[in-house]
Order: sequence, then C-alpha cells, then structure tokens
Amino acid sequence: MSQDNLFEAHNIYKSFGATKALADVSLTIRSGEIHGLIGENGSGKSTLSTIIAGVQKSDSGQMLFKGLDYTVSDSAEAVGKGICILLQEQGTFANMSVAENIFIGSEKMFVKNGVLSVSAMMKAADKVLNEIGVQHIRGSDDCESLSFEDRKLIELARTAYFDPSVFIVDETSTALSRKGRGILYGMMKKRTEQGGAVLFISHDIDEIMEFCDRITVLRDGCFVRTLVKSEYAPSLIKQLMVGREIGEHYYRNDFTPTMEEHW
Ligand SMILES: Nc1ncnc2c1ncn2[C@@H]1O[C@H](COP(=O)(O)OP(=O)(O)O)[C@@H](O)[C@H]1O
Ligand SMILES: [Mg+2]
Repeated sequence: MSQDNLFEAHNIYKSFGATKALADVSLTIRSGEIHGLIGENGSGKSTLSTIIAGVQKSDSGQMLFKGLDYTVSDSAEAVGKGICILLQEQGTFANMSVAENIFIGSEKMFVKNGVLSVSAMMKAADKVLNEIGVQHIRGSDDCESLSFEDRKLIELARTAYFDPSVFIVDETSTALSRKGRGILYGMMKKRTEQGGAVLFISHDIDEIMEFCDRITVLRDGCFVRTLVKSEYAPSLIKQLMVGREIGEHYYRNDFTPTMEEHW
C-alpha cells in the first residue's frame, strides 16, 4: 500500500439478482482527504459505501484499512474498527430510544456486574448531543417521535462519540437544515485534521467540487475515473457520469450554502 492510503477497496463486485450494482470497482482513500464519490442514480454509490461501512457484504473483492485486511460482519463492527456512515436512508430504529440508537452494538460499555445501566447510557447520550450543539433531543427520547432530520442528528452524535478514522456521508447533506449541515461539515473537517478521511457521496457536481480533494466517478456500477482538483470541470464530470457529452442544463444546481459559511 502507498503510505498515505488510509482505506483501499479492490475489485469489488456486488449483484442483486440480475442487477450488477458493482463490477470490479476499486477506490483508495488517503489520510487527510475528503474523497468525493459521484455518479447518477443507481450507479452504485450507496452499495459501495454500505459495503465499506459493514451494512452489507460484497460478493467478492478485497478491502484494506490502515494497510491491513479489512472484513466486518456488521456496521457495529465497522464502527468499532473506526468506520462510520451517515446513511442516505433512515439510519436509526424507531422502536428504540435515542441513547439506544447512539450506542447500538456497543451497549456493553454501560454494563456493570451484568446489569445495563440505562441511566449511564442516557447521560452519555445527552453529553455527546450537547457536545455537537444539539439540545432539543435527549437520550431518553423515543426515536419514533422525531423527524428525519433529528434522526440524522442522532447518527451524527453516534459518529461524534465513536470518532471514526473514516467517515462516510451518503447524500444526506441536502436533507439537513443549515444547523445540521454546520455540525456535519465541522465533523468532516475534524476527521481530515486528525489524519482521518471522509468519503463524501453526492450527485451534486458543485457541492462535490467544493468539498472534495479528489473525486471518483461511478457509472452503471463501474469505476470510471478518479479526478484530482486540477482536473475538476463540471462538463468533464457530467460527461464521465453519463458517458457522453451533454448540454449545460441537464443538471439542476440546488445546493446553496458554501463550505466557508460553515467552517
Ligand atoms: N437491496 C437491493 N436490492 C436490489 N437492488 C438493489 C439493492 N440495492 C441497490 N440495488 C440496485 O443496485 C444499483 C445501484 O444502487 P445504489 O448503490 O443504491 O446506487 P446509487 O446510490 O448510486 O444511487 C441500482 O440498480 C439499484 O436499483
Ligand atoms: Mg444512493
């Protein structure tokens, strides 16, 4: 492995019946970078990111984390190894408390003499929520009563608590309010400053060019190319995404806040 490759995926394949979601996809994420992953709907972005985060398994391929073979059987194991994901879809369970969702898979931390200390777990949840600037959600709240965005904040609290080396953000930034995005961008920045990395997934070209140090393009489940900053151009990225030259107005640009406003 090259010295600054924090995470490597090699020759990843994944099919769902006749659908080839990923075919021979490789990707490297360097220490300290925000690595963008872009592609049209259905190009395989979420499949790749959830495989890295242990949510599902590849059919074949190899992954390395910090130069060592990386295999995980579920997302809690990935979190334990230092890889967290902010899922595109709902990432919390409705029939559980906020605290149970934050510490899912790691409840053992709060067990003393064989008994789970619910109050210690609630206290730890409130502490981490306060730390990320969220006061209106408490560890004892029922997730079911919370909005999609509030439930995303719970996932952010989980990430803040576990302080992963690799933080994967799958398309959720546009679902967050301004405050939520501020928290998210702050957490992304912290990862890179601490020598970790972010895999930032979006289909929004402007957002991804603004945030990312390199961008990998997927098309129809295949790796197309990884671009460095000096190669960034919306027309090239669009062309790589769709596989042909297309007109200027094909993509809507509906991403407004800029990085500077939050950092
Ligand atoms: N659980 C699943 N079952 C069946 N097909 C799936 C499943 N997950 C993804 N796919 C299919 O795999 C392809 C890639 O999907 P996905 O990774 O979600 O793309 P993206 O995130 O880039 O929009 C799509 O054709 C999608 O319909
Ligand atoms: Mg997706």
